[in-house]
Formats: sequence, structure tokens, C-alpha cells
Amino acid sequence: MRTYLKHAALLALGRFRALSRANVRFRGAFSSFEEAAAHVRPGMLAGYDHDAVTDVSKELMQQVPLWDYPILYWLERLAPEIARIVDAGGHIGVKYRAFRPYLDLDRIDWIVYDLPALVKAGHAQVRPQDRTLSFVDRIEDAPAADVLLASGLMPYLDEPLVDLVRRLRAPPRHILLNKVVTRDGPTVVTLENFGMAEVPYQIRSAAEVPAALATLGYDVIDTWTIDSLAHRIQTHPELGRSTYRGYVARLRNALPRGGEEMSGEF
Ligand SMILES: C[S@@+](CC[C@H](N)C(=O)[O-])C[C@H]1O[C@@H](n2cnc3c(N)ncnc32)[C@H](O)[C@@H]1O
Repeated sequence: MRTYLKHAALLALGRFRALSRANVRFRGAFSSFEEAAAHVRPGMLAGYDHDAVTDVSKELMQQVPLWDYPILYWLERLAPEIARIVDAGGHIGVKYRAFRPYLDLDRIDWIVYDLPALVKAGHAQVRPQDRTLSFVDRIEDAPAADVLLASGLMPYLDEPLVDLVRRLRAPPRHILLNKVVTRDGPTVVTLENFGMAEVPYQIRSAAEVPAALATLGYDVIDTWTIDSLAHRIQTHPELGRSTYRGYVARLRNALPRGGEEMSGEF
């Protein structure tokens, strides 16, 4: 009875917020990326791929908040076997800039893959010290890498992880994912309010990413949650709190760098 009443109260609160058009960060609950995109409010830009969106949260993303430390730990630990990283959803190179004081990036080729507007902004903002930073707006154009990093990409990615990874030239030995937003229950897509834009934002079923990594032939060797980022969709609080997760996965049967052969197919 108490659970039922709580659910009903959350439902009523959410619908009231939706009807009152409250200025909330997360609005709506849709079954697909396309359905969410179709509900962007008139007058708002839709999605990430716009010049006006490239500065949103840029300063924050160039810092190293607590939730970046597992990634930093693994990049440092794997550094002897990393010559090249593909940073999918790497924005203008925000994590390259943030991690520079902690990693010897002069010996790591760091390729950001992002949407065209971000790649354009990234090129325009390259600094003289960003010697090993480059950009592609098609992941197929990135050379084979030792690590695929996708930090903060998964909520915004409009294709399955399996498809993204299969578009790489070769399977990287390690995949590092951070800020993967998950929930207990089916995947839900909401709209994140960026002020001038609304961006489809996927809260994935918790089983989805581990299943994708297994399909791709990877073993998950580390995982964590980021409790401080958990949130509810303000217009649909009855759907529960999301859980932010990170994963490190290693390609099964891959030999260490310098070994004779590496599994070249998914
Ligand atoms: C929240 S930012 C993450 C920035 C940074 N990696 C971090 O961890 O702070 C998400 C990034 O994903 C990019 N993105 C969204 N959809 C994408 C897609 N289909 N392919 C590549 N990048 C995408 C956005 O343009 C944006 O730069």
C-alpha cells in the first residue's frame, strides 16, 4: 500500500511539472531516440550537433571531477601498452586537456571522434601544446587504436554500442566507458534541457552495456557506480533514480602489445 501511494504521489508530481512546463533539466519519457527527438519544443535546437551547443558545460568537462578518477587510474595503469586512443564523444578534446597534467600525452596519439559541430570547434580551439590531439567526425576514419574511450557519450549516442565499435578499423584491446546512465527496467529516452537546445538522453537498461561488450568479445574487468550523479526525470519521477556506471573491458584472447597476433575480428 505504501509503495502504491508513493508511486501515485510521484506520478502526480511529475505530471504536474510537465503540465506546468516547469523549467526542468530532464523532461519526458520516450521509448526511442527518434521519438524523443520528435518532441523537442518548437524554437529549441534539437540535439548536440550545433555551433551554439559546443560551449555547454565545456569548462566543467575540462576539469577532473571525482568520477573521472577510475578512468585516469586505468589509463595510467595501461599506459605502457597504449600508443593510440580513440576518444568517442571527446567533444573539443576536453578530457585530453583535463588529463594532460596526469598522463604523458606527448607519447599517446589521441583522436577525438565527435559530431561535425564539435569537431569544427575542436579544430578551432587547438593549442600549441595539443601536439598529439586530432579529430575525426567519422569513427571509420580513425586509425586502429589500443583503447576506445567513451566518457559521457552513451546517454547521447543514437546507435547501439555494438554498431559503433564495429565501425572501428580494428577492435581495440581495451574499451573504457564512463557516465553510462542506466536504470532497472527497460531503456527510457528523455530530453535534456541545454537552455538553447533539447538533447535526447538515453537511460539504458542496466543489462544492455555488459551484454553489448560480451557480444563484441570483451570481458568486463572493472566496473563502478557514480552515486553523486544519480537523478530522476523530473516529469517522470515514478520511473526511479538512474545509476551512472563505468566499465573497463578487455578483448578476450588479445595478446599484449608486441605479441604476435591480435584477434582482428569481432
Ligand atoms: C557530455 S559530452 C562528453 C564530453 C567528455 N567526453 C566528457 O566525458 O566530459 C557528450 C559528447 O558526445 C558527443 N556525441 C553525441 N552524439 C554523438 C555521436 N553520435 N557520435 C559521436 N559523438 C557524439 C557530443 O557531441 C558531446 O561532445
